[in-house]
Amino acid sequence: MIAGVPKALVLCGLLAVTSVTGCGATPSPASGPASSPSQIVELSDAEITARFRKIWFRDATEHGIMINNYLGILTWQNPFDVWITQEIMFEVKPDVVVEAGTFKGGSAALWATFLAQINPRGRVITIDIQDKRTEIAKNLPIVKQMVTFLLGSSTAPEVVEQVREALEGKRALFILDSLHTREHVLSELRAYGDMVPVGSYIIVQDTLGTGAGVAVQDCLKETDAFEIDRRGSA
Ligand SMILES: C[S@@+](CC[C@H](N)C(=O)[O-])C[C@H]1O[C@@H](n2cnc3c(N)ncnc32)[C@H](O)[C@@H]1O
Repeated sequence: MIAGVPKALVLCGLLAVTSVTGCGATPSPASGPASSPSQIVELSDAEITARFRKIWFRDATEHGIMINNYLGILTWQNPFDVWITQEIMFEVKPDVVVEAGTFKGGSAALWATFLAQINPRGRVITIDIQDKRTEIAKNLPIVKQMVTFLLGSSTAPEVVEQVREALEGKRALFILDSLHTREHVLSELRAYGDMVPVGSYIIVQDTLGTGAGVAVQDCLKETDAFEIDRRGSA
């Protein structure tokens, strides 16, 4: 798919589930009356997908936040995004996965679990302005073995420099899941863009209806080093 294309790729995350935590926009409820059995309405695939997204988002929101746990750790990931992320990880075979936005540590543990099967010598670097990791997350064998936690803003020069040093001679894959404002995500894209090797990705999460989506578009206006991979999008 990308052989011969001298570009790295940006993937837009599929659903803006975690933005209700204070990181982003307020979701809008799903609309439209329920059809009675006698009123069967033909919907196109695109309409069904759009409705599904709204319902998913509404339900996730009404339950406080998306209630997903990975190995007992509250993890703010849409399982569909996780599936696509592991496909990308398998394709890219990174040495290092860099995640901005650790939260409880569940997603870092998840990326490490995948990476262990793809590149057992790989590492996950995960960054957060606060250490909210649970004891379970800190003490999982896979985490002790493969995950490095960096405390600080993902755009702080000293953090960016630490990441750059850790990536020396290594193949990197980025997952941006910290603050989903346009300004912050654009700063992350600018800070880390040149650390992404050709054919690898910066996966930008929660792009649906948040500043993160705008940041991706603005980034693409600034550079032609990236293109969007829309796999999984309707
Ligand atoms: C959406 S949550 C991350 C969810 C996590 N990846 C998961 O799947 O469970 C966003 C996290 O980003 C952190 N954050 C906010 N601003 C940040 C910044 N400037 N740099 C790094 N992390 C930040 C928040 O503290 C929060 O824990």
